[in-house]
Amino acid sequence: MKAEEKIREKIREICENYKDAPTEGYISGSGPIPCLILFIGEAPGKTEIIQGKPFVGMAGKTFENYLNSIGLKREEVRITNTCFFRPIKIKISKDGKETISNRTPKIPEIKLFKEILNEEINLVNPKIIITLGNIPLKSFTEFDSIGKCHGTIYFNENLRKPVFPMYHPSALTYNRNKNFQSIYEEDWEKLKGALNTL
Ligand code: URA
Repeated sequence: MKAEEKIREKIREICENYKDAPTEGYISGSGPIPCLILFIGEAPGKTEIIQGKPFVGMAGKTFENYLNSIGLKREEVRITNTCFFRPIKIKISKDGKETISNRTPKIPEIKLFKEILNEEINLVNPKIIITLGNIPLKSFTEFDSIGKCHGTIYFNENLRKPVFPMYHPSALTYNRNKNFQSIYEEDWEKLKGALNTL
């Protein structure tokens, strides 16, 4: 079995045996192996589960537009997540109607995938890791909030890799403020600059 298939198999096993909180479906990373650039997001949403790939829903469209704006195509980068299943919460209304929505993965859920994500990083062997949002940020840097550290390179001693923290692309949907949009765009330009130094 190829190393990538082994990773997929381990993800399947973890996800199918997890019963501590509600989840719906799972995916693995996508893109070339090895690859110079690795993006790590939080967890898949509904569209990602349906299409079986990370970042293909609304946040994914924003992500891909900005990726293209700095001259990169999706097929040239590796994209994965910190949590491989879709964490959900289920609400039942008074009239018995069920609604399912995404929730942030819990710390033990992130821990479940720590080893397998490290295996993926070793296999991909990127020159730079870009974390998208607070969840991968906490896993790969000492920071606990993206507001304090976005758009600058840090060195992860354990992985011996540079890490570039960015806001999660869905932040643009929640924060329509023009000032935030320009901060977000500047970070992509900074990433372009950082990639040119690799
Ligand atoms: N958001 C993420 O963090 N990951 C995905 O794969 C999709 C949306």
